[in-house]
Amino acid sequence: MMPAAGSGQRMGAGFNKLFLKLGEKPILIHTLDVFEKDPACIGIILAVKPEERADIQNALEKFMITKVKALVDGGGERQYSVAACIRAYTDNGIVLVHDAARPFIRRLVIRELVRMAAEHGAAIAGVQAKDTMKFAPGGIVEETVDREKLWIVQTPQAFRYDLLAKASAQAEQEGFLGTDESMLVERIDHQVRIVESTYDNVKMTTQEDLVFGEIFLGRRRQ
Ligand code: CTP
Ligand code: MG
Repeated sequence: MMPAAGSGQRMGAGFNKLFLKLGEKPILIHTLDVFEKDPACIGIILAVKPEERADIQNALEKFMITKVKALVDGGGERQYSVAACIRAYTDNGIVLVHDAARPFIRRLVIRELVRMAAEHGAAIAGVQAKDTMKFAPGGIVEETVDREKLWIVQTPQAFRYDLLAKASAQAEQEGFLGTDESMLVERIDHQVRIVESTYDNVKMTTQEDLVFGEIFLGRRRQ
């Protein structure tokens, strides 16, 4: 399940950042390509903005992405876009939610997420904080937090479908809006495991991320 229906405000391109190119391909296509090439991925449900549907369909054809089984209308918040994907899914088993804006996810991490979700129900990608971390509400330091216990989380986030669907339905019913799917699953008291990912799995969010993106892309090609 891949939410791609954002507007890329922080990138400031004036259009959906996923159409920006890294090398010769749009960011969206790089991300899809990872799953296209992964034999364990049987299909992708992509949430898009209705007005971008035609352009995205063209890009899928041009870059020979064959695993997108459904394009669904995204919503005004990321969580609503993912909810649209969840509603469109008709199978069972393990599903991954992955931001279209993270093109550098590694296949090994995906594999481990699937394994862990199959065993425990929920597993998310993350990296350990490298810097000293402070808890500082309003900019005033209250506490230095033990860095060993802190994880910066990313996507993919992998779940048994029934668990994700239940967590999503409950959030919707209660009007809860989270920033990732894990939060929804945490709310229904299901344990979520972290799978160690890599620092280059950055979300293309602001202009400087594109600089990292070009460097990471060059490194992958070597
Ligand atoms: N997304 C989505 N629907 C939304 C908002 C976001 O499908 N209503 C998707 C984005 O396309 C992106 C992913 O969720 O692939 C992560 O979101 P983010 O990085 O925040 O992208 P944008 O919302 O597009 O960027 P911004 O917040 O800067 O506007
Ligand atoms: Mg956003």
